[in-house]
Amino acid sequence: MDIRQATIDDLLGMQNANLLNLPENYTFKYYLYHALTWPELSYVAVDPSGRIVGYILAKMEEEPSDEPSGHVTSISVLRPYRRLGLANKLMRQAQEAMVAHYNAAFITLHVRKSNRAAISLYRDTLGFEVHVMEKGYYADGEDAYGMRFLFPKKETA
Ligand code: ACO
Repeated sequence: MDIRQATIDDLLGMQNANLLNLPENYTFKYYLYHALTWPELSYVAVDPSGRIVGYILAKMEEEPSDEPSGHVTSISVLRPYRRLGLANKLMRQAQEAMVAHYNAAFITLHVRKSNRAAISLYRDTLGFEVHVMEKGYYADGEDAYGMRFLFPKKETA
């Protein structure tokens, strides 16, 4: 399975995977906004026939703040392709790009409290921590964990 930076041509495939995998869906315009504004931050996992089987849609925080930070808008992998390490690789690619291109100090995301697979990926595999609990964050009333990972500070000579 190939992991590569997402292009404009991938956006429909990403949206399709999102619709199959998650109740949090976005307009095509929102995908386009990500790809045009932060082209380095979103990635796709592609099978040998070129089908998109996983994606990460990521951005930089737009509210002014002291430190730049990245944000994962959405990540998912089609069911038959799970537990192959694809989400782990997609997350790491996006994280590296946030640091390399935008000097991000940390990365944030929201996840449903009941989403054990994703929480395990973020906390156990990638080292994220829960920094806030947001009551009724999702449209159906479920609470979210706001999770965060601080990137290691670069050594200065
Ligand atoms: N149960 C427990 N732990 C899991 C599971 C699971 N079902 N899936 C992944 N993990 C953890 C494990 O620690 C795993 O390492 P291991 O396989 O060595 O034990 C680690 O995460 C890495 O797993 P990957 O294979 O990289 O994860 P995968 O490619 O299967 O994708 C994902 C994980 C994205 C959560 C997938 O299950 C999915 O698409 N789920 C539906 C959509 C979703 O919930 N997306 C996240 C919403 S939050 C957001 O988008 C910000």
